[in-house]
Amino acid sequence: VLCKGINGLDKVVLRGTRGSSAEVYLYGGHLTSWKNDHGEELLFLSSKATFKPPKAIRGGIPICFPQFGSHGSLEQHGFARNRFWVIDNDPPPFPTNISNKAFVDLILKPSEEDMKIWPYSFEYRLRIALGPGGDLLLTSRIRNTNSDWKPFSFTFAYHTYFSVSDISEVRVEGLETLDYLDNLQNKGRFTEQGDALTFESEVDKIYLSTPTKIAILDHEKKRTFVLRKDGLPDAVVWNPWDKKAKAMTDFGDDEYKHMLCVEAAAVEKPIILKPGEEWKGRLELSTVPSSYCSGQ
Ligand code: BG6
Repeated sequence: VLCKGINGLDKVVLRGTRGSSAEVYLYGGHLTSWKNDHGEELLFLSSKATFKPPKAIRGGIPICFPQFGSHGSLEQHGFARNRFWVIDNDPPPFPTNISNKAFVDLILKPSEEDMKIWPYSFEYRLRIALGPGGDLLLTSRIRNTNSDWKPFSFTFAYHTYFSVSDISEVRVEGLETLDYLDNLQNKGRFTEQGDALTFESEVDKIYLSTPTKIAILDHEKKRTFVLRKDGLPDAVVWNPWDKKAKAMTDFGDDEYKHMLCVEAAAVEKPIILKPGEEWKGRLELSTVPSSYCSGQ
């Protein structure tokens, strides 16, 4: 269903069979809400998010493309998150083995203005699907549509803001012992210790070549988020903590306690596409009761 969201911006609402739902704004191709069968919100969205272009929406799942972070000449996290996407009303069907999903396909193509800052022609198809069990599936297909010889390279992230009850009670499993780059320290590679990650200060790390499955355990909620990713070797973990939170105008001073970004990403090794080639990056999000997943 297409309807008007905050500030009259268009949004699509997807409804699962048993009460789950998802909302995506055409502005940014940006998921702002994902609710389970009990109507509980699973994504963090700041109470101060502005919904005013050209600023990206603070929370949900911004799409970072064609550049993650500030590693390049483009604006921070690229421009996909502050462009208007369009709905494909005649999308290709799902493969038959994953039917029974509510889904929408959004398309982004560069405008003439975009091509002045990033001189490549591409078609980006973002499929957002809600499974019968309330799981969320995001599939990005990016195609190089240059008619000449021009290849392009890009970095990417699904900048997912998870809603958590209390950041100091949260654990992330699946990233221990891995190498990472640290945005808060000078250049270099670091190695994570053997324990699951816990949080007691600002964190802004890019874990490299991670397993495809990562779990976020929220003890207070007795809920575990499970991320499964494909085509996205890296994972960014970010929480601004108190000082950076205060410095952001579209983020409440204490909201850092109730969010954690774990972002399926391709950062260290840019993806290179020749004309006609397509890249696919998938992210599947689901939840399970904590006791079930703990220790796996
Ligand atoms: C994270 C980056 O992914 O996004 C951080 O690693 C950055 O360095 C954060 O601060 C938020 O970025 P922005 O542009 O949405 O404020």
